[in-house]
Amino acid sequence: MNFLEFYGLKEDPFKLSPDPSYFYPTACHRVASDSLDYAVEHKEGFCLVYGEPGTGKTTILKVFMDKWKDRAEIALILTPRLSAEEFLMAVLDELNVTSQGEGKVHHLKAFRDFLLEKSGARRPVVIIVDEAQNMPDETLEELRLLSNFETEKEKLLQIILIGQPEIEQKLKKDNLKQLDQRIMVRARLHPLSEDEIVGYINHRLIMAGKGHLRLDDRIVNLVFKFSQGIPRLINVIASRTLMSAYLEGHNTVTPRHVKYAMDHLEGSELEGRGRTRTVAFYASVIGAAFALTLLIGYQLMSSKSDGARSDNGNAPLSISAEAGPGDTAPPPVHAKGKSKNRSSAD
Ligand SMILES: Nc1ncnc2c1ncn2[C@@H]1O[C@H](COP(=O)(O)OP(=O)(O)O)[C@@H](O)[C@H]1O
Ligand SMILES: [Mg+2]
Repeated sequence: MNFLEFYGLKEDPFKLSPDPSYFYPTACHRVASDSLDYAVEHKEGFCLVYGEPGTGKTTILKVFMDKWKDRAEIALILTPRLSAEEFLMAVLDELNVTSQGEGKVHHLKAFRDFLLEKSGARRPVVIIVDEAQNMPDETLEELRLLSNFETEKEKLLQIILIGQPEIEQKLKKDNLKQLDQRIMVRARLHPLSEDEIVGYINHRLIMAGKGHLRLDDRIVNLVFKFSQGIPRLINVIASRTLMSAYLEGHNTVTPRHVKYAMDHLEGSELEGRGRTRTVAFYASVIGAAFALTLLIGYQLMSSKSDGARSDNGNAPLSISAEAGPGDTAPPPVHAKGKSKNRSSAD
């Protein structure tokens, strides 16, 4: 009997692929998803969804695609490290637009005709760029120029940028300010709280057929500690935890299974989290070595001067290895308007 049969599941509940049928809308995921719908329905032009790796950005865009694929023309660009020219060609290709001649003028004319035709047919045209933080500045500028296609009444093109938080910084640069000011809808994805993790895990189990698996309440805190609420890491630890419970033939998943999984996860599966821990580890080793050197040096100096003076000025040696307060998640944001008006906590 394999793992799925043992638990009465139809499929692996914690796959790492961004499967929209598993979408669990936490407050900020719902805001982001609704924002995209709103932006397209109201022809808002530019829209931005951003968040740390693994927080569900690609999942949100898949949910959007599922909802809109029969009602809109969508160009999905997943590899945005393209020159301005390549980007335009990729968009035309995605939308099946063919131009009558060679060269940019012809391409733009074909694109404009296409936009007008779709506007007449009341079909929105949407360009979605995933991992938009990787777009070269010139390509982002090209995108802004494309967004100029409009009639007196409405924008002909809706553009959704999805990216990691550095996209926000990038858009603050002088040469991209114009684009930044056009982003009318923004939403940030945050890691899940402990309560949301409970809902998330249950939701995925139910979608996978739930079966007869039982979860000990105490595992949630451990999963939270491991994952910091990042859905991708929740999937990683949950998947290993189920496997460890299965190997023991248990129907109830207990903290011991989570700990076992944590001990056996390593390297690539931990991605950013692993990197953070490694950096923290080396920082503490270097800190300790530095402290030790100071201490030895200090004692050598004291012992040399012991004969010369009485030892009444011993300053305490203290080195703090404490890191800053980590990534506490600010509340979900759904701000409409210029980025300058938004809180800096974002
Ligand atoms: N709201 C959510 N509901 C269900 N699964 C989610 C959600 N957010 C993230 N996930 C899962 O977490 C993993 C990483 O999500 P993904 O969308 O690829 O993140 P990102 O694009 O931000 O790196 C995927 O397995 C995805 O299914
Ligand atoms: Mg992604």
